[in-house]
Amino acid sequence: MVGPRYSTPTAKPRIMSQQHQVYGHHIGGEWTDDDGAETFASENPATGEELARFQRGTEADVDAALAAAEDAAEEWRALSYIDRAEYLWEIYHELRDRTDELGEIVTKECGKEISEGRADVIEAYHMVEWAAANARHPHGDVIPSEIASKDAYMRRKPRGVVGCVTPWNFPVAIPFWHMAVALVEGNTVVWKPAEQTPWCGQIIAEMFEDAGIPDGVFNMVQGFGDAGAAITDDDRVDTVLFTGSAEVGHEIASKVGGEPGKLAACEMGGKNGIIIADDADLDVAVHSAVMSSFKTTGQRCVSSERLMIHEDIYDEFKERFVEVAETVAVGDPLDEDTFMGPTIEAEHVEKIHQHNELAREEGATVLVDRAELPESEIPEGHENGHWVGPFVYELDYDSELRCLQEECFGPHVALIEYSGEMDRALEIHNDTDYGLAGAIISEDYRKIHQFRDEGEVGLAYANLPCIGAEVHLPFGGVKKSGNGYPSAREVIEAVTERTAFTLNNSKDIEMAQGLSADITTSDDD
Ligand code: UN1
Repeated sequence: MVGPRYSTPTAKPRIMSQQHQVYGHHIGGEWTDDDGAETFASENPATGEELARFQRGTEADVDAALAAAEDAAEEWRALSYIDRAEYLWEIYHELRDRTDELGEIVTKECGKEISEGRADVIEAYHMVEWAAANARHPHGDVIPSEIASKDAYMRRKPRGVVGCVTPWNFPVAIPFWHMAVALVEGNTVVWKPAEQTPWCGQIIAEMFEDAGIPDGVFNMVQGFGDAGAAITDDDRVDTVLFTGSAEVGHEIASKVGGEPGKLAACEMGGKNGIIIADDADLDVAVHSAVMSSFKTTGQRCVSSERLMIHEDIYDEFKERFVEVAETVAVGDPLDEDTFMGPTIEAEHVEKIHQHNELAREEGATVLVDRAELPESEIPEGHENGHWVGPFVYELDYDSELRCLQEECFGPHVALIEYSGEMDRALEIHNDTDYGLAGAIISEDYRKIHQFRDEGEVGLAYANLPCIGAEVHLPFGGVKKSGNGYPSAREVIEAVTERTAFTLNNSKDIEMAQGLSADITTSDDD
């Protein structure tokens, strides 16, 4: 057996007690200590306060990390699945034991309200649990052959070095979506956390160190897009896993797609929608829509920015939805009574305002505008936070409207009235280049099934918000929302190669497809 098994976690929240230290990268089992390096800060988006400083990764750091990952690959892949999983079980227990503490750190660093901070850590250990437990499950198929004397199998192999680039909005869960399965399957990893959430990155790296994972199997380089690009562009990377903006994801997918032998699995955003049918239960509809549009301050890639509502119930739904949007609690994310925390950073506030402005310019009737949160609503000591409240508008559907096509990634939502049958609702719902998540609210199973079958999304919900997927479901989108599923259980396809292995149990060679195995020679004439 390798690795400590089920011991008590030893990791301390080291970072809390060392405020003046600059934190480095974790490369080849070592923490880097480059005094001359450019540094950057992690800031609390609710207060603007600096939390800690980090070294900014350069191409040289990425180069060292990739070299370490390559060096470690052979020994790591030679271990059994179950031995590799032991290291992940260590991390699973640490994530469980430290859920409250880490949940608070998530909240401080990315501004999600505290129940969401905890849920992020819980989602992370669910993923680690799935990956580590899967080590004991079958990893291939026994496949019949046309020839009775042949045995055929599908077997999996690690692809090699996996490069991971993750976003700030799930700073603990998404890194484990990428890395847990990749490691158990026998790959080594080089990971760049989002530049907004390096503190969570630091803690995850400490966990790998505490678990005693062999040097170079796990490597982390802190930094910005240039460090991310140095990872994704490098020939030593066999698989790129990316979760983040459509802009970057499409660039990676098209670049990597052109390189033979290299593979990219990318998950991007959406312009997600909810259909509220004429027979919808309005309590369920309002609840689901509020959760989908405003939870995480609209900053999930599965958040909903379009609500398609049948004309028969439009006015009543609108009244009820607007009432909640007017009053939903925006505030200190550490306070249990808060529903929406701040947005991630000042530039994002600007971007959300621009989307709101665009909707106005395109003729929207604004129903709720809390975008510039009044001072009275900003909690004391949080004046430098990046506050934005709900923005709700209605307008007549038109395919050309940019505000109905472009993802805002904020609490910005359009109410669109439709008349007629589900075909019309689906036509509007599917009229986007994206296809990540969506929901239908209806009491009619026929409408629900039509949505399930014809809604162009990877994640479809009925009588639920379109957020909150569990890790053992495939998570990913269709159309421009993604390719290759870098997340949850489906990532196994991106981080493994399949070998179709066929064995002959006979001394005679017999071929499938009726192909002759006779070798004729000139002597046969
Ligand atoms: C994201 O939206 O960026 O399905 C990830 C959910 C979460 C993951 C969301 N499990 O809402």
